[in-house]
Amino acid sequence: MFHLIFFLTMLSICLASDPNTIYKLRMYVTNAIGDNIVVHVSGSEDLGNRTLAFNQEFDWRFGVKLGTYYLGEFWWGSKHASVSLFNFHISRTCFNGKVFSIQRCYWLVKPDGFWYHEKNDTFPGEWTRRATW
Ligand SMILES: *[C@@H]1O[C@H](CO)[C@@H](O)[C@H](O)[C@H]1NC(C)=O
Ligand SMILES: *[C@@H]1O[C@H](CO)[C@@H](O)[C@H](O)[C@H]1NC(C)=O
Repeated sequence: MFHLIFFLTMLSICLASDPNTIYKLRMYVTNAIGDNIVVHVSGSEDLGNRTLAFNQEFDWRFGVKLGTYYLGEFWWGSKHASVSLFNFHISRTCFNGKVFSIQRCYWLVKPDGFWYHEKNDTFPGEWTRRATW
């Protein structure tokens, strides 16, 4: 009984911040291009423009609810690309089933396109390319 009460208390503490949040995710976007790039993340929140130098990463944390999505607009010199950084499809790759621990998802921005993976493994490994410039 004590365990049950403890569990329910923990559950309500976890969910108190927003009852519709299913789990939390931390997204990392790393610039793997030799030049500076600009990224504008928007969607469920607007995180504004960031300039990323080579090997610099931008990360943010968010609660995933039904319909949560993030779009990245990228500028590299004269090139421009819009990439869906988080949506239902990507959530299936980055969700490891442990609802109470933070999930992680990684993006690598390279000259040949935009790659993502559930782990920050050595490239190319099992990274998936989702878009090109
Ligand atoms: C973000 O940066 C891009 C590229 O430099 C620029 O075209 C755009 O106007 C900027 N947007 C905002 C909201 O500052
Ligand atoms: C990913 O791994 C590389 C190589 O170990 C490291 O340099 C980089 O900081 C890591 N990136 C993130 C977002 O943790």
